[in-house]
Amino acid sequence: MFQKDILKGKRILVTGGGTGLGKEMASEYAELGAEVYICGRRQAVLDDTVKEISDQGGKIKGFACDIRISDAVNDMIDVIWKDGGALTGLVNNAAGNFISPTKDISPKGFEAISNIVFRGSFYLTHACGTRWIEGGDKGSVISILTTWIWNGGPFTVPSAMSKAGVNIMTKSLAAEWGHYGIRLNAIAPGPFPTKGAWERLSPGQDTDSNENDSKIPMRRNGEMQELRNLATFLMADGCDYLTGQTIAIDGASHLGSSGNFYQSLDKLSDEDWDGIRNMIKSSNDADKAKRSV
Ligand code: HXC
Ligand code: NAP
Repeated sequence: MFQKDILKGKRILVTGGGTGLGKEMASEYAELGAEVYICGRRQAVLDDTVKEISDQGGKIKGFACDIRISDAVNDMIDVIWKDGGALTGLVNNAAGNFISPTKDISPKGFEAISNIVFRGSFYLTHACGTRWIEGGDKGSVISILTTWIWNGGPFTVPSAMSKAGVNIMTKSLAAEWGHYGIRLNAIAPGPFPTKGAWERLSPGQDTDSNENDSKIPMRRNGEMQELRNLATFLMADGCDYLTGQTIAIDGASHLGSSGNFYQSLDKLSDEDWDGIRNMIKSSNDADKAKRSV
């Protein structure tokens, strides 16, 4: 779809770029000529992704960083700036999520999600934005949201609230920072099956199951290349006047039905929820055991 070197000269950080959608976007950016940075809490996961993309000829480095900690974010951004100059782009992709009746979520459970999505996305955007403004550099921010920013996210309330906050950050800063040449846009994907999301949002369902297809007007999940193309379009030169926008890529899922988890989860019993919580807990514990920060 794009010229092979369309992102040559771009320097892009993708948070949560070691896995899932972040890895897809990082890989596409590297293939199209950008220098790419990724971060996450599991060094070994980052190392594997860096190796895979480098082996294909991409320029990429990975940093273990917990984006909930503003000092850690600032330190990482300093290192990146010293490594080769200003970034040209940031993708706020890292997130945490799990399905749960809201009555069963503790304050710590709320913070586990909101500190990553709501605070972490701000820390990254602020750390890059202040440096772009100080250096007189242009910059482009893409935040990965969800369609439930428009109609609510029953059973995923901390995520819905946090993503809605990042949506309004996108619009607010597009206006406040437009005259510096800083653009902020967002992508709201529908279902693009990944291990991280499916283990916490559809536990027990395989990522290649087509169980949900009938609920989606286009009768299928998203294909990674479709997301990779949109993320490139928004990051490349040529649409500099496009800012403050959130684009859904969901096969009309949220227009044809709610696009959220209401219908599939509304009738579950407390016993069903106990089972779901245990399944999510074992995924969380397995991932946590691999964290290096
Ligand atoms: C209720 C839960 C819970 C669950 C955890 N908690 N899982 N509460 N139901 N299923 C509560 C815990 O009981 C605890 O509170 C608190 O959350 C913190 O738990 P920790 O395990 O200590 O959290 P932490 O180590 O900070 O890990 C954060 C996490 C974890 C969000 C819980 O899942 C994570 O690291 N996720 C990163 C990857 C991820 O989530 N990817 C999916 C993104 S998909 P108490 O009070 O008991 O101590 C996405 C949108 C997809 O965002 C849209 C699809 C259409
Ligand atoms: P994923 O593979 O679980 O990705 C989440 C990433 O965020 C992981 O690499 C994780 O790495 C990182 N992360 C989490 N907490 C972090 C922290 N505190 N500091 C640094 N990194 C952290 O899930 P995904 O499906 O690809 O999701 C990616 C994005 O797409 C998310 O914003 C999600 O909300 C959005 N989204 C996904 C879908 C979908 O269908 N897949 C749909 C709509 C929106 P570590 O655990 O190693 O830190």
